[in-house]
Amino acid sequence: MGSGGALHLNSLQMDTNLKMKLVLGIESSCDETGVALVQMRETGVPVLLAHALYSQIDMHQAYGGVVPELASRDHIRRVIPLTEQVLAEAGLTLKNIDVVGFTRGPGLAGALLVGAGVACALGAALGKPVLGVHHLEGHLLSPFLSADPPEFPFLALLVSGGHTQLMRVDGVGRYELLGETIDDAAGEAFDKSAKLMGLGYPGGPALSRIAEQGDPASFKLPRPLLHSGNLDFSFAGLKTAVMVQAKKLVAARDEADGAQQTGVFETLPLQTRANLAASTEAAIVDVLVRKSLAALKQTGLKRMVVAGGVGANRSLRARLNAECARQLVRVHYPELDLCTDNGAMIALAAAMRLQSGQQQASEVYAFDVKPRWPLDQLS
Ligand code: KG4
Ligand code: ZN
Repeated sequence: MGSGGALHLNSLQMDTNLKMKLVLGIESSCDETGVALVQMRETGVPVLLAHALYSQIDMHQAYGGVVPELASRDHIRRVIPLTEQVLAEAGLTLKNIDVVGFTRGPGLAGALLVGAGVACALGAALGKPVLGVHHLEGHLLSPFLSADPPEFPFLALLVSGGHTQLMRVDGVGRYELLGETIDDAAGEAFDKSAKLMGLGYPGGPALSRIAEQGDPASFKLPRPLLHSGNLDFSFAGLKTAVMVQAKKLVAARDEADGAQQTGVFETLPLQTRANLAASTEAAIVDVLVRKSLAALKQTGLKRMVVAGGVGANRSLRARLNAECARQLVRVHYPELDLCTDNGAMIALAAAMRLQSGQQQASEVYAFDVKPRWPLDQLS
């Protein structure tokens, strides 16, 4: 998208798809039901007309993580009311929809089937085509809905609960994987460390909040694969180091208390907990930033996009902004409410795939989902 907000697509590609204007997007890959309406204007500018989200976090919290069967059932309950809500907000009806986009993968199979099933049923009933999109492509393109949209090509740092990847992005559907995590994702590192600290699920935002009161230099935690010479990540060791540190702190406190074996991290002084949280966040952010800088150097790209839930992290944004300003690299983010899973990014990805001529919407309503689906295998 240019500085004036217009997509750089040739007129031939645009002609093919100009009929397709209003896209309903449905996201149901994990624990958030998201529905949105995106209009692709004739100028090529995507406009978010309305989006609505229902987060299942409260329901899953009791189990310490997502329970797939409960997630699927809840998506069923939410998806139609959310669709009605976005239509009402936009002052439109089902008849106005030109295409129904949905998340085809990756994600939880049962949860994906709900969104795909509803999207295809709606498409069939309305006589409108459907288009299944890749969840990560949604995250990757989500900054195109922001007040400061990027232009191709750019480096993308995709940091979600399930993925940590660096990609070179040359256009819609033109993604080259440069590096990725060999074990836990960055979001998982946040979540698992937060769980050890008794901060609930998903712990990323909670850990980040308490970290603001702590000293990031108080505990020395590992920065795995920092000097590996490639762009891969590893976060599993960090979680173990946090666990060892937390156990040591609790044991020391219990000993000082006169062998009163309370053994609970949450009963440590707030400052100690904040210090460990800040040190954990600093270790994750440090690796993400330094690998991103290495990827920028390797590719020579001067533009970068950060997407996925961890992209909402304030410390990551502050560090990246500072480092990239020094390297004269521009960084783009999705709006904060579109960092984590949502329907807007799915409607947008469908609209941009159509607009770019990368994919046609289909009037075949037999659907499948792809719970495992590498982004660089997207055609
Ligand atoms: O992209 P997303 O909503 O879902 C997936 O596709 O996985 O990302 C969710 C992840 C969770 O691990 C959550 O803890 C993390 O993003 N997250 C954060 C923050 N907000 C969300 N991690 C650190 N700081 C945050 N502010
Ligand atoms: Zn996601």
